[in-house]
This record gives sequence, structure tokens and C-alpha cells, in this order.
Amino acid sequence: MLIKSKPSISDHEITDPLIFSQRRQILKAFAATTLASAAGIGKVLAAETHDNHLTATPAEVVKNYTNYYEFSFNKQDSTKLAQALPIDPWSVEISGEVERPLRLNLEQLLKQQTIQEYVYRFRCVEAWSMVVPWQGFQLANLLKLAKPLSSARYVKFTTLFNPQAMPNQLTSSGLNWPYTEGLRIDEATHPLTILAVGMYGESLPKQNGAPLRLIVPWKYGFKSIKAIVKIELLKDQPATAWNQSAPNEYGFYANVNPAVAHPRWSQHSERVLGSSFFTARRETELFNGYGDQVADLYRDMDLRRFI
Ligand code: MTE
Repeated sequence: MLIKSKPSISDHEITDPLIFSQRRQILKAFAATTLASAAGIGKVLAAETHDNHLTATPAEVVKNYTNYYEFSFNKQDSTKLAQALPIDPWSVEISGEVERPLRLNLEQLLKQQTIQEYVYRFRCVEAWSMVVPWQGFQLANLLKLAKPLSSARYVKFTTLFNPQAMPNQLTSSGLNWPYTEGLRIDEATHPLTILAVGMYGESLPKQNGAPLRLIVPWKYGFKSIKAIVKIELLKDQPATAWNQSAPNEYGFYANVNPAVAHPRWSQHSERVLGSSFFTARRETELFNGYGDQVADLYRDMDLRRFI
């Protein structure tokens, strides 16, 4: 069993009460799954890390310190600017090396998934981290609906392209729009890899990637692409936005690794968002602490070379 309950993370450590937002499509979809009420939330807590004190970061910090370059290069402004993004209706295409290409609207998609809570540490390549209780489902459970072919070796994710609502998509900022990301198929189907539709028991705030974003907890945060509209299964490794813009700084793998410095800063430690002065920094862990679950995926790779 790769995911197990972790008794050291108790409910009272999750800062905010579990309150559901009024957003129609999420509520409906939640009700259709296990989430008829807050009490019905199935809890799947992060598997072992070396840290026995995985305390959720205050929700207000997570909502007000975001990286969403389609809106702003500043971490505070997207909170407001992202509210202009229309997310209902929303649909996701699953295509490429699959037997059964699909286009699902969000409601249809969520009806077929069991939403659970995943409390993960999230480590940004900029050397800060937070702990977030996400509501979501395993990506593997969505991909299998499309019946991947054996030729599917990679998965590419694409964010919505809507320059009217996402003004930076009209600028040349060094990133190619729309934002894209990718995983190897075994990474994408790993049980820790989820698509999140909520956090802190509420539907996902727009600035945090509503209505649907990827979360890969052992990789740097830029892999966790927001506002996904397309998921393609591919034979070959896809080009991805950050990797194209600066390949020596942002690798395709981007596994959290304190031993491999970013060319412009060390990755040895991280600033803990929302923490008190005394706990403000922590040592960064290989694979962000999820090594017991994922190290095997990379057993044949030189982690210093495949950044
Ligand atoms: N996805 C899109 N579409 N656009 C972005 O700018 N930023 C990435 C990632 N996903 C980004 C994105 C980066 S750099 C990080 S660190 C995380 O989202 C930040 O997630 P958060 O803002 O919810 O903390």
C-alpha cells in the first residue's frame, strides 16, 4: 500500500474548517461522489515523510501567495486578477495514444471519480514550501477511462489559452503559451499523482488553478500545472514550458533534490511559508520526503544528470 493514513496529521492541524463553496459544478460533482457532506470526506493522508509534523499551512497564505504567470509575475496580484477567468463550463480532452479519446465536461469527469483528501508538502523550485490539504483524485483513475495504448510513454498537460482573461498570454515573457507540462507515464499513473479540484475542503480558488490542476508532490511546484484543458498521451517526451524557456534551470524531471543546486541558488533548504520565526526554514528532502514511494521510479537514472 503506497498511500496510508498517517496518524501524526490530525484534523485539528488543518487550519481551516471544512467548508464547501457554493460553486455549482464542484458541489454537484462532489455530491455525486463520496462528498455528500463535509463529514463524508474520505481522507487519504500523505504517506511517510521524514517529518512527523506535517502541519497544514494557513489557507490564507496559500491563497495569497501564488505563481500564476498567465495573470502576473507577482505572487500577490493573481489572487485578484484570476477571478476574471471563466471556469464554468469547463471541459478536458484526453487524446493521443489511447484507444478511446475522450472529451469530458467537468461534471461528467468528476462523477466518475472518488474525491479524497491528500495532505502534501509542496516545494517550489524557488526554495519555499507549504503543506496543503488538497481534494482530488488519482490521475491514473482518469487516464484509464481513455484506455491508454502500450505506445503511451509520456503524458502532456496543457493549460487553457484565453488571452482575454489571461493577459500575460499576449506578452512574450520567455514562456511559451499556453503553459504546458509533462510526466513519464509511470510518474503520471503513480498513486501519489493527483488532479486537485479543491483545497482546505473548498473548491479550488481560481488563483490556485481552478477548476482542475495537477499535483505531483515529489517534484518542484512548476510541474503542477493549473487550469488543465488537455491531457495527451504520447510516444515521445513532450516539450514543456519552463524546460523550453531555460533547460539548464528547469529540467523535465524536476524531482526535488537538495543535492542539485539551481544554477542561481542552493536547494539545500526551503523557507516554510506561514511559519513562525523559529521554524521558518527546513532542510529540503530528496523527492520532497516521498522517496520511499517514488525512488524506485528512478532506480536506473543518475539524478544529478536528469534534473
Ligand atoms: N500553471 C500555470 N498554468 N501557470 C503557472 O504560472 N505556475 C507553476 C505551477 N503551475 C504555474 C502553473 C508554479 S511555478 C508553481 S510553484 C505552482 O503552480 C504554484 O502553485 P500555487 O500558486 O497554487 O502555490
